[in-house]
Formats: sequence, C-alpha cells, structure tokens
Amino acid sequence: TVDPSTETFVGSIDQGTTSTRFLIFDTKGEPVAIHQEEFKQIYPNPGWHEHDPEEIVQSVENCIEGALKQFEKDGHSRESIKTIGITNQRETTVCWDNKTGESLYNGIVWTDTRTAALARELKARPNSDKTEVCGLPISTYPSVTKLLWMLRNVEKVKKAYDAGTLAFGTIDAWLIYKLNGGPAKNIFITECTNASRTMFMDIRSMEYSDEMLDFFSYEFDMRKVHLPKIVRSADTEHFGKLETGSLKGWPITGCLGDQSAALVGQKGFDPGAAKNTYGTGCFLLYNVGDKPVISKHGLLATIAYNFDGKPIYALEGSIAVAGSGVKFLMHNLGFEQQSHKITELAETVKDNGGLVFVTAFSGLFAPYWIDDAHGTMFGITHHTERGHIARATLEAVCFQTKAILDAMEKDSGHKLAELKVDGGMSNSALCMQTQADLVGIPIIRPKMRETTALGAAIAAGFASGVWKDFGELKEVNTAGQTSFEPKMEEKESKRMFKRWEKAVSMSKGWIA
Ligand code: G3P
Repeated sequence: TVDPSTETFVGSIDQGTTSTRFLIFDTKGEPVAIHQEEFKQIYPNPGWHEHDPEEIVQSVENCIEGALKQFEKDGHSRESIKTIGITNQRETTVCWDNKTGESLYNGIVWTDTRTAALARELKARPNSDKTEVCGLPISTYPSVTKLLWMLRNVEKVKKAYDAGTLAFGTIDAWLIYKLNGGPAKNIFITECTNASRTMFMDIRSMEYSDEMLDFFSYEFDMRKVHLPKIVRSADTEHFGKLETGSLKGWPITGCLGDQSAALVGQKGFDPGAAKNTYGTGCFLLYNVGDKPVISKHGLLATIAYNFDGKPIYALEGSIAVAGSGVKFLMHNLGFEQQSHKITELAETVKDNGGLVFVTAFSGLFAPYWIDDAHGTMFGITHHTERGHIARATLEAVCFQTKAILDAMEKDSGHKLAELKVDGGMSNSALCMQTQADLVGIPIIRPKMRETTALGAAIAAGFASGVWKDFGELKEVNTAGQTSFEPKMEEKESKRMFKRWEKAVSMSKGWIA
C-alpha cells in the first residue's frame, strides 16, 4: 500500500439520468478507479418518466463500494481520498417527508412531459414570462411543474403538505440529505446551479425569489413546502459527510449540476468558452461571465458555477434526446445491443438517404420549446434501411446543436471559434464529424471524457485546498485531444439543415 501522505485523490459521485458512477481522480485529473451502475427507468404512461429515489441512493452507495474496492486493490489507501464531490442530473424532482425521510412518490425525471397541460395553464396566467428573474421559460422541463403536479395528483404528497412536512428537492438535495443520514441530521440544502433549474431561484441574488414563489402559489402555498437552503458549489460548511459505508465520515465539499460540472471539467472558466455534452440528452453551455444573459432566442440563463460567492453564468441550449435516442434504437427497436454498434450501423450508409428523424420524445427543447412536438420520421422510401435510421438519430442531435449555436450567436453577437465536446455520443467519430460539418467550426474532443465527474471533483477539491486556483488545472486533461474539422461544402450542410427545419415544423401539433 502506498503511503497516503504522499498521494492525494478526490472522489466524485456522478448521478446521471440512466446510470450512477463513482470515480476517484488523482490531482492530474486522471480517474484511477471507477464503478458504474444502471438503475430502473420507469415509463408508466406515454411521456412519463420516473426514477425510484431510494434506488438512486442505493446505486450511489454501491458505486462508492465498487470503486473503492478497485482503488484499494490497486494499492491505494482510502485515507488518501481527501474529499468528495457530487454531480447529478438536474430538474428531476423528489418529494419526501421531512419527519420520516421517506420519499413520497417516484422522482419525476426532467424528460417527463406529463405536465404539458399544466405548463400551458401557467403560461396563460398574467405576467407569466419570468425569464428575467429565473432565467427559464415555463415548460415541462424545470422542477416546479413536476412539484405542482405531485401536489395535485399524489395523495401522500398532498397529505405531507397539509401536515407541514413536505420537503421538495432536486437530486443533489435528496442525495445530500440521504447520504448525511436523513432526518437524524436533517442536512437540507441544495447547490445553486441545481437550484437555478427549479424556477424558484432569482439568478442574480441566488436566493429564492418572492416573485417566483408568489407566481406559483395560486393553488398551493409554495411557502408551505420546505425548500432546501441554497449554497455555493464549493463549500466546506454545508454539504456534511457520508454517514454510511466504507467512506463513512468522509466530507462532501463540492456539488454541481451535471452540465455545469462538464463545463468546469472542460475548464470552461473564461467568458466565451463553451462545451456540448452528449449524454442522455445533450446540453451546450456557453460561459457568459459574471452577469446573466437573458436569451431572446430560446436559450436558458443558468448558473455555470459559484465557487466563491461570485457566480459565473452560462447561456444554455438544452436538447432532450441524445443518447436516449440511441438507446431507443437498441431497446425499443432491437437494432443492436451496444451503442457503438449504432455508429457502425450508421456508417454502413453514405448519407441519411433523405431521412430526417425528429427525436421529439419529450417535445422539443431549445431553441424551439415545442411541447406538443412528437417523434417523427420524414422521408421514408423503399430505399430506407436501418443504417439510415441510425444515421438520422445521430444527426438529430447535431441539427439541434446547430440551431442552438445559431441562437447563441444572435444572443451574444459572437460566433464560437470552436466547441468542446464530451459524453457518450462524442465517442462516435461519425457523429462528431457530422457536427463539425453542420456548425462549420472545429469540434474538440478531449482524451479523458469523464469531464462531468471531473468537474465535481474540481469543485470539491477547490473547497478543500487540493487545487488552489484555475492556474493549477492548466495541465489537467489537456493531452491527446482530437479535433474534427468541418469538411462538408457549406451548400450541402445548409441544404441538410433546411430539411431538418422543415421536419421540425411538421412535427408539431400531433394529437396524442
Ligand atoms: O437537465 C438534465 C441534465 O442535467 C441531464 O443530464 O447527462 O443525464 O443527460 P444527462
């Protein structure tokens, strides 16, 4: 065993939409141990998507044990892990009873569209455009509509509300509460990048906004719901420590919503830096500096990170379906067993053969925000084969990214020089080349693509002095990146994009 005093590591819990991982990073940003576990995706009705909150906590605990085992087998000592960070899927909403610590319903996942009618109802209320305050337009996506739905439809949630014991939180708040032992210690906090996805937070003051709480209190009083205290992303005081398992007693000192974490992991610290993460969904974040930019073109204003009380903001373009489209081909259509095979299938054809797949399984998010768009394929002929469908599934994400970059250019007045990428689909060279061709700028893919987990480790490491400033991260994850240069003629990429836009306009208003 190596002497722990000579080694320093940081642990990172990465709780994503379809899987949980625990990674242990060294100070160069290299992961030395990793354990991953998938958990149940619950789709009770069309458009509904739930997670079991207790299973999520269990998966985190399992991943910690799994990675630690590997870490110690490799001769490291757990004492050399200085601290732990958390990163998580955002918006997914959990309601629990703060007396018992038990969840009252499944978590309603960010992709879930059961609140489409509720969102329309909210939009029709006077002065409903609150983007200036909270950065987000009303849609099925932020947490608030999910909470309102539970209050209306879930008996147990309503009962807890009446009894004054209803606690609401996003996954960060739920995990921090549970990992700290639940009601016994009652650590009830949320991190600000996560809180910025609920619609309750004022993105400038970083506090709950009275205007937002009033706006949503027309049927239920939002002040009767216990909301977690909002804290910074790097913090040694509030996140507490693990209460169970082999790392019992280890401190948690950092937390970031997963998309913010990826921006940090890509070291997007300067205004103008941008990254696109092709995970379950795909999320482009563009660092706009220390003041929020309220989009006029369908993007979101969000907190990038807040390490020291001076928040840094991002413009965000959110795409609901990316890797989940690939999974759809595998699990629902039985195309292949592994995701890399979908790329191989897409490579069997020379182009999309005229096929466009609008993968609007959760409506369409940025920059369109069409909640009644449905998944639709256009251009099917006798020529169409599975390869075309695979290709069109990958291309759908690239087209939406192009639309988002166009909107960003309009909002910011600048064209991006390059785009950094990560996430599962970025493994596909075909997909990344298509992306470069469609947006006309180089796509830069780092060698180590666990950037989301790395971002949480950086937040935690900053708080506990593992790294002291951004300068110390210069060398972290810089070697071995791949650059995809645009190759397609502009005329052709324009023609493809025009077809996509036509398909988008035809995918709306479907009667479900
Ligand atoms: O806003 C949802 C996002 O945080 C989920 O990320 O990586 O699970 O697609 P991912």
